[in-house]
Amino acid sequence: MNYSIPSDALQGKIILVTGAGDGIGKQAALSYAQHGATVILLGRTVKKLEQTYDEIEAQGFPQPAIIPLDMKGASKQNYLDMADTIGSQFGRLDGVLHNASLLGVLSPFNQISEDTYDDVMQVNVKAQFLMTQAILPLLHKSNHASLIFTSSTVGHSGRAFWGTYAMSKFATEGMMQVLADELSDSHIRVNAINPGGTRTGMRAQAYPAEDADLLKTPLDIMPLYLYLMSNQNRDITGQCIDAQPKK
Ligand SMILES: NC(=O)c1ccc[n+]([C@@H]2O[C@H](COP(=O)([O-])OP(=O)(O)OC[C@H]3O[C@@H](n4cnc5c(N)ncnc54)[C@H](OP(=O)(O)O)[C@@H]3O)[C@@H](O)[C@H]2O)c1
Repeated sequence: MNYSIPSDALQGKIILVTGAGDGIGKQAALSYAQHGATVILLGRTVKKLEQTYDEIEAQGFPQPAIIPLDMKGASKQNYLDMADTIGSQFGRLDGVLHNASLLGVLSPFNQISEDTYDDVMQVNVKAQFLMTQAILPLLHKSNHASLIFTSSTVGHSGRAFWGTYAMSKFATEGMMQVLADELSDSHIRVNAINPGGTRTGMRAQAYPAEDADLLKTPLDIMPLYLYLMSNQNRDITGQCIDAQPKK
């Protein structure tokens, strides 16, 4: 599908992006800001978040904000405090892109360590669950809010050796569907994006031998990220959409 995105599609919106210091999350933060949004950059490596911040400022886009947070160690109280801070500074949230994730270790099922299981489930599932609970009241204050999760092809079709990562993405899609159904009478739309193979550090970790030049870049897949975040999409909820659908 070809999405046509006006340059002011996100004008005035307040959007939280997790994992905004690298890969797809960084590009989404830049693209959202370019289309008029004030972006709240959340991630664990402050230096990388500052680079995203500086690039947004250098382009003259709306001034962003930074929330340094390691989702592996963050508690429920950390997310409640974060929501308080966003509430007092911005008053509401119009969009959230749950993008930060861990790949963990690709291995036979029997060799998945308990530590890998716990870390991947903590960052990819529990942290998103706690964060979403904390920020839902801020999304309810928006007139048209969009909550976007990030899944994967292995989030709806299990694959050998993708163990905990695949299980975490199934859980992500489940969380998205439960929320979308619960919020179907509200003005909050809830969807997931499957980016498809994209040239990032995580992809290189999963496929070290492939030629990365053959992959789409994060910028290439932004039209869907922009469309789902904008008010153009008022009727779509509860779906997982491929950013690179098979032709
Ligand atoms: N690239 C692909 O081909 C592909 C395909 C399907 C799905 N996806 C999904 O797309 C999303 C983005 O992936 P990507 O390829 O852009 O990966 P990436 O380049 O590895 O970026 C992941 C981001 O998540 C952040 N992050 C990881 N652990 C965190 C933690 N504990 N607390 C806070 N932030 C944390 C990272 O922060 P640091 O920079 O500080 O490490 C980084 O900014 C993920 O949900 C991934 O599962 C990607």
